[in-house]
Amino acid sequence: MASTLISPSALLISPTLKKKQPFSFASKRVVFCRANNGFDRRDMLLGLGSLYGATSLVGDPFALASPIAPDFSRPCSDAILPGNHVPCCPPESTKIIDFELPEVRKIRHRPAAHLVDCDYLIKFELAMERMRALPKDDPRSFFQQARVHCAYCNEAYFQKEPPRDEPDQKLKVHFSWLFFPFHRMYLYFYEKILGELIGEPDFAMPFWNWDSPCGMTMPGIYLDPASPLYDPNRNVEHQHVLVDLSDGKKSKTKSTERGTTYELSRTGQIKNNLNVMYNEMVSGSKKATWFYGQKYRAGCNSKDDGQCKPEPGGGLVENGSHIAIHKFVGAKKPPYNEDMGNFYSAGRDPLFYAHHGNVDRMWSIRKALPGWRQEFHYRVDRDWYNSEFYFYDEKRNLVRAKVWQFLDTERLGYAYQNVDIPWLRSRPTPRRLRGGQGKAKVAETIDIRNAFPLVLDNLVRIKVPRPKRSMTKPVEGYKDEDEDEEVLVIQNIQVDRNASVKFDVNINDLDDETPARPEDSEFAGSFSTIPHGIDHPDSKINTSLTLPISELLKDLGIEDEDYIEVSLVPKEGKGLVSIGNIKIDKC
Ligand code: C2O
Repeated sequence: MASTLISPSALLISPTLKKKQPFSFASKRVVFCRANNGFDRRDMLLGLGSLYGATSLVGDPFALASPIAPDFSRPCSDAILPGNHVPCCPPESTKIIDFELPEVRKIRHRPAAHLVDCDYLIKFELAMERMRALPKDDPRSFFQQARVHCAYCNEAYFQKEPPRDEPDQKLKVHFSWLFFPFHRMYLYFYEKILGELIGEPDFAMPFWNWDSPCGMTMPGIYLDPASPLYDPNRNVEHQHVLVDLSDGKKSKTKSTERGTTYELSRTGQIKNNLNVMYNEMVSGSKKATWFYGQKYRAGCNSKDDGQCKPEPGGGLVENGSHIAIHKFVGAKKPPYNEDMGNFYSAGRDPLFYAHHGNVDRMWSIRKALPGWRQEFHYRVDRDWYNSEFYFYDEKRNLVRAKVWQFLDTERLGYAYQNVDIPWLRSRPTPRRLRGGQGKAKVAETIDIRNAFPLVLDNLVRIKVPRPKRSMTKPVEGYKDEDEDEEVLVIQNIQVDRNASVKFDVNINDLDDETPARPEDSEFAGSFSTIPHGIDHPDSKINTSLTLPISELLKDLGIEDEDYIEVSLVPKEGKGLVSIGNIKIDKC
């Protein structure tokens, strides 16, 4: 169908919005990753008539465009926690202005929090102190800024343009392609307010450099109880220890996996963290959806349209290191782990903004990584570019901002301090080649036909067929390197919205008693989530996880096998996750 006829070079143009590139068809083909249900609405749109006549694309063929936006004509509602209503709605305003890109005279550089000097710290503390001291009804106050996050992730808003067959959809910014842009926009306005409060419009806020060995503990400047950067709702046991970026525990924790004690040395933990980052950022960021998350548009055209469901699936950073840091910082206060350990309360901790500074930095780094990195195409995925959110600026104006305005940090006037990126050199290796590991397969291997639905309460190993080779044969005379990319898609992951869970996914692993870790090529990735703090009848997330596996199959020397064995290893919240299916796609 559509996917064999259009040119990848035409669709994969980097969306540099400054110089608009002409849209042209070459003689090759486009490769779409299928949506989870095997059906991509844009495939269909492209397939309907306009496909063969490039000229019809001169007009706008995307009449069904449906970017996500909050509906301000309908009331904003409180976040509802079990037994408790938490107001998250920002103050109202009758006037909305459109965001305009600033005139940039000089780029401000956000510094790594563990590297700032005393002068900077004093300035930053003053700004935070003033933000905290603003009256609660001032939209620039820390109190209100924290609510912004709650509003956009705890269903305070309805979506604009109500979905056709599933009305009253709420808007959510996690586990989809909105994750990176929403948080970038949020931080941009937050930083401008801090600057305004100290009379320094070019003030740059710090980022928590947790991907670098010297930044893998909570930054010291946030730990003084007398400082406005402090938040008492944190896990105090984690204040001076190395994070484990694969699960948000502290390092050197003895963890018992099926009766075996597993402990890492400090250097071992650092190495593991760098492997996590390599997996997320190098092997895992090649395709737009792997990095940003799955597509999410307003308006369901059919029950099968996976792209209009909130939380269709997060990208690798969002699912991995990002959630790990939330878990690591949040207080050990079950069931909700406020502040950082729960989406509704995360914005109440000043460390949240430094954490998301680094998440945002990952987005900037991705663009600069060697080799080609795919973006969403401006014409095919215009909905991403046109999704919009509302923030108060430093002058208390309510501002409507669109994703396309936030793609280039330098056009917004900021960049990140240039620090070493050691994970670029941290490719995992196959444990089978390193030797010294036990070899115990305890769980029996289940055939995929009998595996689902599955409640994940113990390690399971499932035999999953590879896609037929003929399906992906290159069009004659044309070689697109990219078409060899395979992804493992775990579908219909259902988790209670208030649960904290994690499971790992390993491929052809040797040992069920000490399952593979990020340092091993056998480790494909993880799914993790923190509670949202939402209480309503169908309060389950229903999402998916897409893990790139081509590099791993090559490293393990199993590219030619017809089947792989996928182990799902529950790490947290055993029995709280159910899974609907697993498949391998080529894209
Ligand atoms: Cu909106 Cu780190 O969460």
